[in-house]
Order: sequence, then C-alpha cells, then structure tokens
Amino acid sequence: MSAPLKNDRLLRALRREPVDTTPVWVMRQAGRYLPEYRATRAKAGSFMALAQNPELACEVTLQPLERYELDAAILFSDILTIPDAMGLGLSFAQGEGPQFAHPVRTRADVERLGVPDMESELRYVMDAMRVVRRELAGRVPLIGFSGSPWTLACYMVEGQGSRDFATAKAMCWSDPALAHTLLETLARSVAAYLSAQAAAGAQALMIFDTWGGLLAPSAFREFSLRYLAHVVTALKSDMRARDIPLILFSKGASAHLYEMAQTGCAALGVDWTIDLADARNAVKGKVALQGNLDPAVLRASPEVIRREVRRVLDSYGNHPGHVFNLGHGITPEVDPEHVKVLIDEVHAYSRVLRAA
Ligand code: CP3
Repeated sequence: MSAPLKNDRLLRALRREPVDTTPVWVMRQAGRYLPEYRATRAKAGSFMALAQNPELACEVTLQPLERYELDAAILFSDILTIPDAMGLGLSFAQGEGPQFAHPVRTRADVERLGVPDMESELRYVMDAMRVVRRELAGRVPLIGFSGSPWTLACYMVEGQGSRDFATAKAMCWSDPALAHTLLETLARSVAAYLSAQAAAGAQALMIFDTWGGLLAPSAFREFSLRYLAHVVTALKSDMRARDIPLILFSKGASAHLYEMAQTGCAALGVDWTIDLADARNAVKGKVALQGNLDPAVLRASPEVIRREVRRVLDSYGNHPGHVFNLGHGITPEVDPEHVKVLIDEVHAYSRVLRAA
C-alpha cells in the first residue's frame, strides 16, 4: 500500500476540478541549472549511468522538491530510453547531445525493431519509479513520461539531435510506408512503456512530441497526431493506465490543439507561441492545459519574472483546469533563485485571482 497523497492539486487540475492555488512544476526541473544535479551527475560518470541507477535517479528526481514548493515530481529519465532498449546504442557526447551508434535508415533496420520488454530491458526505469514513489511518501504526485512515436522516430532516423531532422522528414516523403511501419512499432512501444510506468507507480503520464511542430499540417496529422491518438486509445483500454491522466505536448503545434484534444487525453501542454486564453477557446473546455511561460523569461530579473507569471495566470483566468509550467524545458544557465521566484509567484498570485 502506498501513502495517500498530501498534495493532489496537480491531479485535481488535470481533472478540471477546483484547486486552492494553481499547481506548478517545471519541464526539466531536475537538470543542469541545479549545482546539486551536476554533483550527482559527476558522481554517476555519465547521463545514462545516472538514469540507469534507481537510487541516483531518485536522488536527482527529489532535488528540486527540496528547494521549491513544487506540486509534482517527474521521474528522472529520458525519452531516448526506448530506442536504446531497441538496440540503437545511445550515448551522450559531452556537450553535444544524444547520439545513436546504429541509426534506422533501411527497411531491414526497421524490421529488426521490436517492442522492448518493459520488465527486463527497461526495468531500470520501472525500478526508479518504484523507489521514487516510496521516497516521496505521498508528498506530491509522480509523473511518468515518454517521447511520442514521431519524436522518437526523428532521433532514430537522424541518429542524433538536429535543428530540422531533415533525414527523418525525408523518409516520410520518399518511403511513407516505411515511416509508418516504424511509427507503428513505436506507438506500440510507447503504449507498453506508459502502461508499465503506471503499474510501477506513475500518477500522471506525459508524452513529449518535441518535434511535432516541424511538420506541415497534413504531415503532422499523418505522422504525428495519428500515432499520438493510437497511444491514447491503447491506454484507455489498458487496465493499468486507463485511470491515469495523460498530458500530450506537441511543441510548435498550437494550431492543432483542438484536434489533439479530440484524442481523449486529459490535458495538453502548450508552448509560449499562443495565449492561454486562445488555447482555452480552441479546446472548448474539453481538456486541461499545461503551460506556458517562455523559459527565456527566467533569465530576466525577478520583477519581470513575476510580471510574466501573472500575465500567464491572467490569460488562463479564474477557470479550473490549469497546470502552470514553462512552454518548454528550463535551460542550464538559469539562476536557481529565479525558479523559486516563479513558483512562489504562481501560488501567491493564483490565490489572489481565485479570491477576486
Ligand atoms: O523534466 C525532467 O526533469 C525529467 C527528466 C527529463 C530529461 N529529458 C532529462 C535530461 C525529461 C522529461 C527529458 C525529455 C527529453 N529528452 C526530451 C523531450 C522534452 C524536451 O525537452 O523537448 C528530449 C527531446 C530529450 C532528448 C535529450 N536528452 C536531449 C536532446 C538531451 C541533450 C540536451 C542537452 O541539454 O544537452 C538529453 C539529455 C538530458 N535529458 C539531460 C537531462 C537533464 C542533460 C544531460 C546531462 O546531464 O548532461
């Protein structure tokens, strides 16, 4: 039996129920802007060694919660664990981002891929989830996550990070059948991965479609949205995951919020390129919204941070169903004190907004 939740604001907001103050967490909240993260990372040796050690992964998951009044924890891991478990050989070259030893380019490469076994090849993720749930002891809910099929395909075909993922996009046009075979295997893998995370203790789930916005509207529907919808449908009929709220985040895809809401997910992540008032209108109250402060604001002064936090809260207005977050991950040069300014202002100002 696990401890009852002491702070359930996140789950209430995802269900669009009233809350005393707007819940807040920060994408990449466990990361390099924190000196204590850099120390644990140095102790582990490499990023993957850190992610694959459940005790150390738990330690860094909890670090931001020691500093800030966060309303959620997110498991310390990465979206590229699935392709790594498929045998692509993931490494992070110092300062250069992810690299795969064996990128996926040909039909033979795609046909060799299978859905990884969650309790062997990805057991370290489930073990870390179980350790973090135990150590959290109900303080706040724990979020599990995956990359989207499209975003995972981007890295797998390209073999590394990229500004435009031109090789991955080229596969969609030159051999769409091959791209679809790859995306189908990935959709089954993502659904199995999120289901296993729910069974291991995740209390909310999020899918990062970081590169959805690289696609033209019709290509977004064909290569990204369709597979997000497959995953949502699979999880809705999954005993272990059907009651766990699911957040979909496609960066650069604010033109598609209505279609994304129709997948049946609980919430949508929103980047900073749309006002939350317009995003609310677009989804017609069907889902909760998470976002959407531009992470660059955290480089400004505390006064500017507070003003911009209030702007985001005012834009959503006094309605249920808002989870405050950045519009994308926090960057390494941010002053940790500025994150405290943000979190405290979200709680203080959203209380005022509710009383008004
Ligand atoms: O949010 C959290 O605190 C949980 C942990 C988390 C990480 N990556 C840790 C990490 C999450 C949710 C991710 C998701 C992720 N990983 C995404 C989707 C979210 C997004 O930002 O759009 C993507 C595209 C990746 C792939 C990835 N992992 C890249 C491109 C990099 C290198 C980028 C960089 O900043 O160097 C990583 C490595 C990574 N994942 C780091 C962290 C804290 C930095 C690695 C280090 O410590 O050296």
